[in-house]
Amino acid sequence: MKHLVSILCMLLFFIGVNAQETNKLIIDAKPGGVVINKNIYGHFAEHLGRCIYDGIWVGKDSKIPNINGYRTDIVNALKEMQIPVLRWPGGCFADTYHWMDGIGPENKRAKMMNYHWGGVVENNTFGTHEFLNLCEMLGCEPYISANVGSGSVVEMTQWIEYVNSDKDVPMANLRRLNGREKPWNVKFLGVGNESWGCGGNMTPDYYVNLLRNYSEMAGIYGQWKLQQIGCGANGADYNWTDVVMKQRPGGMSGLSLHYYTIAGQSWGDKSPATGFEKKYFFSGLEKALKINELVEKHSAIMDKYDPKKQVGLMVDEWGIWTDVEPGTEPGFLFQQNSIRDALIASVTLDVFNNHADRIKMANIAQTINVLQAVILTEGSKMVLTPTYYVFKMYNVHQDAKLLESKLICEDYEMDGKKIPTLSSSVSEDKNGNVHVTITNLNPDKEVTLSVDLVGKTFEKVKSASVLTAPEYNSFNSFDKPEVVKPVDFKNYKKTNASSLSVTIPSKAIVVLELL
Ligand code: AHR
Repeated sequence: MKHLVSILCMLLFFIGVNAQETNKLIIDAKPGGVVINKNIYGHFAEHLGRCIYDGIWVGKDSKIPNINGYRTDIVNALKEMQIPVLRWPGGCFADTYHWMDGIGPENKRAKMMNYHWGGVVENNTFGTHEFLNLCEMLGCEPYISANVGSGSVVEMTQWIEYVNSDKDVPMANLRRLNGREKPWNVKFLGVGNESWGCGGNMTPDYYVNLLRNYSEMAGIYGQWKLQQIGCGANGADYNWTDVVMKQRPGGMSGLSLHYYTIAGQSWGDKSPATGFEKKYFFSGLEKALKINELVEKHSAIMDKYDPKKQVGLMVDEWGIWTDVEPGTEPGFLFQQNSIRDALIASVTLDVFNNHADRIKMANIAQTINVLQAVILTEGSKMVLTPTYYVFKMYNVHQDAKLLESKLICEDYEMDGKKIPTLSSSVSEDKNGNVHVTITNLNPDKEVTLSVDLVGKTFEKVKSASVLTAPEYNSFNSFDKPEVVKPVDFKNYKKTNASSLSVTIPSKAIVVLELL
């Protein structure tokens, strides 16, 4: 069927259709066997700024409504978004974290310095129990990152025994003493974070030896039930992927990749999160789209050593990194979130969906109040960001079958630079309904697209919604929380039994359900 799509595309060109004027999405309606792992819609929460404290955890005695210390509004919003997996405790923090400081009676827990993030004192109120119980409450999988940079194999294996053993062994008994009888059955374990940087400044050869050592012991203590995720590359560091894949331990089932979108020219020229000029709108999208090339090049290296695709590419940190909000602590990385950031999220998720043969997990940085957050809080107030709505709209793709598609579209140009105007991905859910997500990146122009399902007819568009905004840099504030919010979408027309014409507003994301 892949061939049929290519033949159809070629035919369009032969009969003289000008790709610059025609926007066309051709979908192969027969699934090819790739499932979009729901964990691609994962999140990341670090002990950084106000992500954990204030964001997720306010403590039982807080006046802010809470369920045993967790903010009720946050728990409800994350459940509603269908969060599938949550990575914790870092980030750079993970390689300074000693999990034993975060268990036992709250008032007896050891304090530590959070060296990376604002130099604040961490009192360890939120520790292993608090995190794993949160995941249980949310119905999501926990993904814990072991400390390789300043920890040890002993520390990691004891943690594994503490969280996963149901035997009469020292760490499981310590857990019981701390009030938890049953293990949590954690499935995902990260072996170090950014070991090429804040996690220990290692070379890939040095790291891969440590990884083999940690991995073997994690396998033994975890009875080979944990999915181990090796530290992967920083952006385009293809040599890192090559070295680690070549010498990887047998127990490693995932390799990470970190990529942050910096809308300006460099880290010193990051865009503001709000009130930015249009050049930062364009360059933010242009930089975000680079993730396609990174995924394809890292995947090609992985294919060389793992042609059966048994090791997943886990993009466990991604998102836009802007200037912090004026007047806030620089080390807390608190930034607002605009429609531009929602578009960055949707095009990135399209890339992940379309490469779901290799990508098995991704975790946007970070859940609450940090970087490209889905939710912001201020005291008892909470605001859902435009990025939150993208995750909610896209949750239809979770565990659905990927449908191969070919998108032909015009370019969006600015200052002599071009990016494709549209982005899309398509899947079929367990009931046979097809979901199409389409993004129009042009901030000034609506775009009409024809959507053709090859090999299947559909009766109607069962539901459709759109997320757009008044301005290219609109955002939701605590005072005006509903500026950017999805609404029902009607601007489509069925053109025949298997086709549709859709007009997508400027700077918008549309999701269609075809029945
Ligand atoms: O997400 C913020 C930081 O970015 C993480 O701690 C680190 O892993 C990355 O450099």
